[in-house]
Amino acid sequence: MGSRGLFITLEGGDGSGKTTQAELLTEWLVTRGRSVVRTREPGGTEVGDEIREIVLHHRGDIAPRAEALLYAADRAHHIKTKVRPALADGQVVVQDRYLDSSVAYQGAGRVLDAVQVRDLSLWASEGLLPDVTILLDLDPASARTRLDGARTRYDRLEAEKLDFHGRVRDAYLALAAAEPERFIVLDASDEPAAIAAAIRARVEPLL
Ligand code: TYD
Repeated sequence: MGSRGLFITLEGGDGSGKTTQAELLTEWLVTRGRSVVRTREPGGTEVGDEIREIVLHHRGDIAPRAEALLYAADRAHHIKTKVRPALADGQVVVQDRYLDSSVAYQGAGRVLDAVQVRDLSLWASEGLLPDVTILLDLDPASARTRLDGARTRYDRLEAEKLDFHGRVRDAYLALAAAEPERFIVLDASDEPAAIAAAIRARVEPLL
């Protein structure tokens, strides 16, 4: 029996544990016999890695609309050349960050219009929405404590102030409340194993 492609995205603030959960989910999917593509935005392709370098490490300001367009350009290329082909081939795509990141960060954080940012992303991806979006929710102060322990270099967005990250968190929670059938919201301060189990329970029926 051919498997249906499945598009799973992970969202949350910096330091919420998305990478760990993406790894655990991927391992489990592979034991279930699924072929998995793990990817991320920004990045995930060669063009994307170049855009990633600009948006995360360019010194000096980037105009908010330019920043939104750079993320959208990365997304357009990534979805067209990597994600859609994998889904068409029946694979599971486990992706770190997608359009909800743009709405949360560029929309709420950078005070652009959230609906316009979402529409821009949907234009870029020709309307692709995830089957499941896992939101790892964490208050920004705890996230900062985790990052301080793990990192020596902050990227442009990580270096933003706590109130920026508070707005991003609120935007994420509003997105999840607006689309409860797509989102699963988990407390990122729980044990990683417990979070992983909750994610598996949500994904299992879709396999
Ligand atoms: P990421 O590499 O996921 O960083 P982390 O591992 O710290 O979560 O993402 C890098 C940054 O890019 C992150 O701070 C959020 C930001 N971002 C946006 O602002 N808009 C977007 O559309 C995406 C995909 C990411």
